Amino acid sequence: MTTGLDLGQPQAQAIQSDEDVVRVRQLVRAVAVAVKLSLVDQTKVVTAASELARNTLVYGGGGSAEVATVENGRRKGVRILFADSGPGIADLNLAMTDGYTSGGGLGLGLSGSRRLVDEFEIETSPGTGTRITITKWSR
Ligand SMILES: Nc1ncnc2c1ncn2[C@@H]1O[C@H](COP(=O)(O)OP(=O)(O)OP(=O)(O)O)[C@@H](O)[C@H]1O
Ligand SMILES: [Mg+2]
Repeated sequence: MTTGLDLGQPQAQAIQSDEDVVRVRQLVRAVAVAVKLSLVDQTKVVTAASELARNTLVYGGGGSAEVATVENGRRKGVRILFADSGPGIADLNLAMTDGYTSGGGLGLGLSGSRRLVDEFEIETSPGTGTRITITKWSR
């Protein structure tokens, strides 16, 4: 479940190349600074976003990221939606397991990202694609 309201317009970034992954990192860093996340929390959410953007590119065949500011009354945060129309993830429990990879990676992208953020949601189905939403709140 996600909480909080969107503030303003989300910013969209296509993910079709390594350069786009860098652009996602820069956008997430800028919004994390704007909502006053600590330096450590900025780095955590940028790292998570980088892993998910790379998965979107490598496994999803490209897609997009939408970066938004959210607010829950007391706190602000940054929320990012990663979306692709790739093959989807057949066994989500397996994919979320530390060390599982189908592609010769370390298998730490999904599981590590989940630990770095406050909220983590996945919708995926074979044939439709994958949507992952993460949120990091200021403390
Ligand atoms: N967007 C996606 N679409 C389809 N499959 C995905 C997607 N993201 C992840 N997966 C699947 O989940 C597996 C685990 O992803 P994860 O990011 O944890 O590891 P990895 O990318 O294989 O390695 P690492 O990220 O550590 O380099 C991937 O190997 C892939 O099979
Ligand atoms: Mg990965």
